[in-house]
Amino acid sequence: MTCLREMQFDDLFKFNSLVFDALTEVYSLTFFVKHLLEFPGLSQIALAPGSEARRMGYIFGKKEYIGSMWDPQGHISALTVSSEYRRVGVATALMDYFYTALDLRGASSINLFLRCSNLVAYRLYCSLGYALQRTVLDYYPEPENAFEMRKYIRRPLEIQAPTAIR
Ligand SMILES: CC(C)(COP(=O)(O)OP(=O)(O)OC[C@H]1O[C@@H](n2cnc3c(N)ncnc32)[C@H](O)[C@@H]1OP(=O)(O)O)[C@@H](O)C(=O)NCCC(=O)NCCS
Repeated sequence: MTCLREMQFDDLFKFNSLVFDALTEVYSLTFFVKHLLEFPGLSQIALAPGSEARRMGYIFGKKEYIGSMWDPQGHISALTVSSEYRRVGVATALMDYFYTALDLRGASSINLFLRCSNLVAYRLYCSLGYALQRTVLDYYPEPENAFEMRKYIRRPLEIQAPTAIR
């Protein structure tokens, strides 16, 4: 059975096959290490069934405070699935994991950026309930514009509203 587990440091040296893809953003080792240290539990790797446990895909995310320290938000920094394992729900499983993790950590929404040309990723995020929020010009260095997409996390009203002070 496919399983998800927390990304470990040695995975960073074994997922080269996942990043050889024109639409997968390549980041420095420092970027990944910083994520693992600062945001434990928010980066996951999907492993294929079998003794080899081949790496199928990963997600790196974080929890951040933009605007108010009372309103944490999730941000997906990187998501990719190996071309061998696409279209079988791996990205959906990684995204669902991240959504639940951020819900449990009290976040009110999750955002991400993608290349405007990346229609496959756009479809994936739409299918998961993310909505287009804005276009950021020249976000990528080539240059290319980015879409920012966001999904709000539902909260019961009594949690959203500030408690009345008597
Ligand atoms: C985008 C990506 C992560 C999708 O991963 P995946 O595991 O294949 O996605 P899923 O199997 O979970 O697909 C979920 C839904 O996304 C959409 N989708 C995924 N791949 C698609 C494709 N090739 N064409 C059209 N829709 C697609 C569909 O709505 C799909 O649901 P369905 O299969 O029931 O129709 C993968 O293609 C990838 O790694 N691409 C390169 C890196 C990248 O673009 N990362 C995102 C950067 S922002």
